[in-house]
Amino acid sequence: MKKILVFAGSNSENSINQKLVVYSSSFLKNVELNIFELKDFSAPLFSVDLEKKEGFPKSMIALNNLIKSCDGVILSLPEYNSSMTPVFKNTVDWISRIERPTFKDKPLLLLSTSAGKRGGQTNLKSCCFFNAFLGWKSNCIIQSS
Ligand SMILES: Cc1cc2nc3c(=O)[nH]c(=O)nc-3n(C[C@H](O)[C@H](O)[C@H](O)COP(=O)(O)O)c2cc1C
Repeated sequence: MKKILVFAGSNSENSINQKLVVYSSSFLKNVELNIFELKDFSAPLFSVDLEKKEGFPKSMIALNNLIKSCDGVILSLPEYNSSMTPVFKNTVDWISRIERPTFKDKPLLLLSTSAGKRGGQTNLKSCCFFNAFLGWKSNCIIQSS
C-alpha cells in the first residue's frame, strides 16, 4: 500500500490548512496516510553556525526519514505576508542541509487556504519557482478561500 505524508506548513493549534489537508486526504482510498502536525517536529531557527556546532536536530532527521520512506506528500501551505510561513521555510532549510532536494522528488499535492479572499495564491505561485529549485515534482495545486 502506498504511504502518503499529510501535513500543513503551520504551527498553529487551530490551523485551517491542517484541517484542509486532513479533510482532503480523507477522500483517498487504499493508501496508508501518515497525518502529522509540523509543530510536533519543532526545530531551532536554522543557522550555519548552529549546524556546525550542534549538527541536525533529531526532529529534522526524523522528518527527512519520513519523506524518504513515503510514496507521496499532501501539503497545505498557509500564506504569511505573501510568502511561506517561517516554520515551513525553517523546516525546508534544515532538511535541505540533510539531504537535497527536501521533498526527494516525491509526487506532491500542494494545497492552500486562507481567511483572505485570495486563498494564499501569491505564496502558491512563488512556490512553483521554489518547487523547481528544490526539485519537487509538483503535480497539482489547489487553492481555496
Ligand atoms: C503574520 C501573518 C501574515 C499573514 N499574511 C497573509 C497573507 O499575506 N495572505 C493571506 O491570505 N493571509 C495572510 N494571513 C492570514 C493567514 O492566512 C491565516 O492566519 C491562516 O489561518 C493561517 O493558516 P493556518 O491557520 O493554517 O496557520 C497572515 C497571518 C499572519 C499571522
